[in-house]
Amino acid sequence: MKYSSILLLAVLFWTACSTPVSNPSISIIPAPAKMEVQNGSFTLSPSSKLVLKDEGKFSNEVEFLQITLEHALDSKISEDGKGTEIELIFDSQIQPAGAYQLDIDSDKASLKAGDATGMFYALETFRQLLPADLEGNKTSGEILIPTVKIEDQPTLEWRGMHLDVSRHFFSIEYLHRYVDLLALYKMNKFHLHLTDDQGWRMEIKQYPELTEKSAWRTFNNQDSVCMEKAVEDPRFNFEEKHLREVDGQTQYGGFYTQEELRELVAYAQSRHIEIIPEIDMPGHMMAAIQVYPELACTNSAGWGKVFSTPLCPGKEEVYTFVENVLTEVMDVFPSKFIHIGADEVEKSTWESSKESQDLMKREGLDDVEELQTYFVERVTDFLKSKGKEVIVWDDALNAGLDPSVYVMYWRSWAAAVPEKIAANGNPMILVPGNPLYFSRLDAKMYPIYHLPLYGNKYPEEKANLIQGMQAALWSETVPSEALADAIIFPKMLALAERAWSTPEVHDWESFKVRLQSQLKRLDALGVNYSYEVTKELIPFMNVDEENQQIGITLDSELSNPEIHYTLDGSIPSLESPKYEGEFFVKGSALVTAAVFDDGKALEPYLTRQVDYHKAIGKPVTYYKPWNGAYPAGDAGSMTDGLRGGDTHHDGKWQGFTNDIDVTIDMGVVQELNSFSATFMQLSGPGILMPGAVEVSLSSDGENFHQVLSIENDIPKEEKELIFKDFTGSLGGEKARYINVKAINSQRAFIFTDEIVIN
Ligand code: ACM
Repeated sequence: MKYSSILLLAVLFWTACSTPVSNPSISIIPAPAKMEVQNGSFTLSPSSKLVLKDEGKFSNEVEFLQITLEHALDSKISEDGKGTEIELIFDSQIQPAGAYQLDIDSDKASLKAGDATGMFYALETFRQLLPADLEGNKTSGEILIPTVKIEDQPTLEWRGMHLDVSRHFFSIEYLHRYVDLLALYKMNKFHLHLTDDQGWRMEIKQYPELTEKSAWRTFNNQDSVCMEKAVEDPRFNFEEKHLREVDGQTQYGGFYTQEELRELVAYAQSRHIEIIPEIDMPGHMMAAIQVYPELACTNSAGWGKVFSTPLCPGKEEVYTFVENVLTEVMDVFPSKFIHIGADEVEKSTWESSKESQDLMKREGLDDVEELQTYFVERVTDFLKSKGKEVIVWDDALNAGLDPSVYVMYWRSWAAAVPEKIAANGNPMILVPGNPLYFSRLDAKMYPIYHLPLYGNKYPEEKANLIQGMQAALWSETVPSEALADAIIFPKMLALAERAWSTPEVHDWESFKVRLQSQLKRLDALGVNYSYEVTKELIPFMNVDEENQQIGITLDSELSNPEIHYTLDGSIPSLESPKYEGEFFVKGSALVTAAVFDDGKALEPYLTRQVDYHKAIGKPVTYYKPWNGAYPAGDAGSMTDGLRGGDTHHDGKWQGFTNDIDVTIDMGVVQELNSFSATFMQLSGPGILMPGAVEVSLSSDGENFHQVLSIENDIPKEEKELIFKDFTGSLGGEKARYINVKAINSQRAFIFTDEIVIN
């Protein structure tokens, strides 16, 4: 190469290095409480000067700043720097905990906080002001940062993510990375589900077989599901690093040593994240019972109707085991909280266990639900005696619970659970399965972003019991880190903003725009997120009893989409009414709506039956119960005006495994003209039509006469999702009480969303 070419290259190289890089937009997530962008820039370079006015409180945060700068600038900064200043200031006036201020002008970036957590969040915000691609590629030149003033603070105290490492195992390195990503978005709780039926993941020195044997398994039926899916999507493949060969047999699994977990905890602490370990008990304990079968009432591991055989509360050695395990757990995890699960307990082995029955007699316990409460409270007492707070899942509340125990609300289909938790006085963390179980790739962000803190039946004066929100990743069918990334990201960002930002700055349209920049950051960080903007419309219904109408709100993941709708089931055209915010339906309508692009309606269209009918809000007496797993809105569900969509999981469809037998009280004798109830059939999960629906009327609530018997005509062989309206005339007859029976002649699940009376 000629000398001149070398010179030219050198000049080009110098120019490239010296061209400052900058972020094209400010796109902070979660949105800060207050932000004022000014018209200038601050130049960050390796010669910037570090100024500490921190009274020695921020040494960990200074280290984090240096790591961030080394990453972006390939250099730390020093207190002897000659360039622009970055100052970290302790200011006790800045409250509450976690609050911070950031004041960047052209020659100084001032970061102020009243505690180390606030300073850490100031630094994470500062990091987001740097160009996204510096997360992956350093610059050795200068970085221009927009001049901006920010004042920010957390809104909800609990901003959590959960990870199930039992059903599938995730490497300790993945957990470190998880912590980093949580911290980037100011999440502060990491709930680690360490044990379950399918694998025990934490080394317990006193019970070595828990990890020597029970951290490993041969492939199970959930693994087969993954293998089938892997044919189409390689993210469902198992990771080689979690396989081992024993005596010619392939085993799947892994565990964390106490040393690894201690390091993880310390790392998380340096990122202001509390790791909350969960040892799920007395159910979900099969991994332990397999190696210590004496812990079960039956002295063997096994399955009941739905859930695995639990620990035996009647045996003293169970408490010895639990206390020994928890002692080691507490030794590794200094968290304020220990989670003991207490969900989904199959109690039939307790009914037939002499030890458990004897214990119930001694303690005056009426049934096995009370025995569960005894178990939970006894373990709680032990943990509290060691200075810990205890967390359980909401099914632990079935027969009462010490009100100091924190409860995670997860059964979103059981509408009255938050009220029950409030009535019992327990602090509550919101983890409603819909929408905070991040188990599906195609789950939507809109409902996460808009998740209300509580519904209209929740007593407002108990709002202070709500600690915050958390999403869960259950890993039954998540065998790889790539798939876990894809399920969590970017949904977690919607949760982060929902939980951190003040209601005043929540803005879905702005979030969607800022998200685009954050996706670049996630790209640079090597996060395998999955984000397909769906054109599906998301309907919300609001029953307005005062004006006897139903308000419909439509939203979309698209930015400011053009939406048109009809009320008669016809496909909307550009001439159909344009959606411009909530609209109202009086009477019945089949709302059909679509997003338009270039004058064309895009599929899928939304269709939703909406009925403001005579029975809305009228009390319903159930003579036979709904199935506990599908209560929808409990007893109010059949007359709440909320029609279901196309999945029985949407919290609107009430499921029964017996006949339906209910009576609606219309309040006064009145003319009744029509009856209609829609049923769903989806034969895969065993949901079939009732054989017939019978309607009887009465004026006094005692003497009924049958007026309708509507037969089913949908064969059970029909495999596709199908809906049938069982409809008939009530002939203008005058009556007050309407009895409805749906005969479950196929002994399947039957599902209906509403009984519509006009
Ligand atoms: C749970 O999903 N069983 C808490």
